[in-house]
Amino acid sequence: MGERLNIAVLTSGGDSPGMNACIRSTTRTALHMGLGVSGVLDGYEGLLKGRFKGLESRDVGGIIDRGGTFLGTSRSEEFLDPQNRKRAYGHLKDRGIEGLVVIGGNGSAAGAHTIARETKLKVVGVPASIDNDVYGTDNAIGFDTAVNTALDAVDKLRQTADSHHRIFVVEVMGRKSGAIALEVALAGGAEAALVPEVPESAELKPLAERLTFNLKRSRKKSAIIICAEGAGRAEPIAGELESLTGIECRATVLGHLQRGGAPTSYDRNLAARLGWAAVKAIRDGKSDALVGLVSNDIRLTPLEKVVAHEHRFNHQEYQLLGILSL
Ligand code: F6P
Repeated sequence: MGERLNIAVLTSGGDSPGMNACIRSTTRTALHMGLGVSGVLDGYEGLLKGRFKGLESRDVGGIIDRGGTFLGTSRSEEFLDPQNRKRAYGHLKDRGIEGLVVIGGNGSAAGAHTIARETKLKVVGVPASIDNDVYGTDNAIGFDTAVNTALDAVDKLRQTADSHHRIFVVEVMGRKSGAIALEVALAGGAEAALVPEVPESAELKPLAERLTFNLKRSRKKSAIIICAEGAGRAEPIAGELESLTGIECRATVLGHLQRGGAPTSYDRNLAARLGWAAVKAIRDGKSDALVGLVSNDIRLTPLEKVVAHEHRFNHQEYQLLGILSL
């Protein structure tokens, strides 16, 4: 390593609220430790093109409360090509960069693992994804904010659903992950969550029977069904539930709303802790690992393990939802 260790930080994949707070923490921790720090623009795409920006303390001021990522992000197909990656490694070498912090979800962690295997760079991943599907951490940065954004919508929908005695099917993000759906359903007092991790949750006949009983024979005024996009789409589900129950149904798709907004205090502070831990790990010579929060402790998990495992779906919480929604 040279006299002064230089590191770079990038954000990659789908953005998530708190990424900015993590770039801030990474940058200021690095400066505090006497390291040089650059931001890579637009994730792995920017790495291929050699698009860097030197970062000083003031460059990361005023961003702690902003969703998105001021460095930009991408889902880079080109980075999968080894020839292209060689170019990226050349750019890092030219700038004397020896450490890399990768903030993002599973795809980003896979990219970080590849770089760690193919180069001598010290590479550390930080989990940031609203899907909360990264192995090696209880929570990924952005999940808490996305859940609260969706919850705010669900609380509002409940009011109109009650007034009209309707069923609402609310589609939340998560192609492979039912984490947002489950968390929002439990916190919002929803009647059910349809999630990819529990395939039978998407069987509409038993659900329709329960809803018919609840709304026609017990004193429930309305029903809210939270559906992860990976378990089915809100519009056809609402149509089918309406014909099965004879009760008016409406569909709402929350979409990318869930990816923006001011990060919650939880996400900002998680970002602060994990950004700090990532830089410290690199400074201590660690590499090919993810920093995560496990039972409120910061833990390093080898990226090899992170890419080979799935984040555990909380089946206990799912069962609790079934009990409390009756
Ligand atoms: O990975 C985060 C996520 O928001 C998923 O929940 C969603 O399925 C996907 O990204 C949407 O991707 P895009 O922003 O490319 O449309």
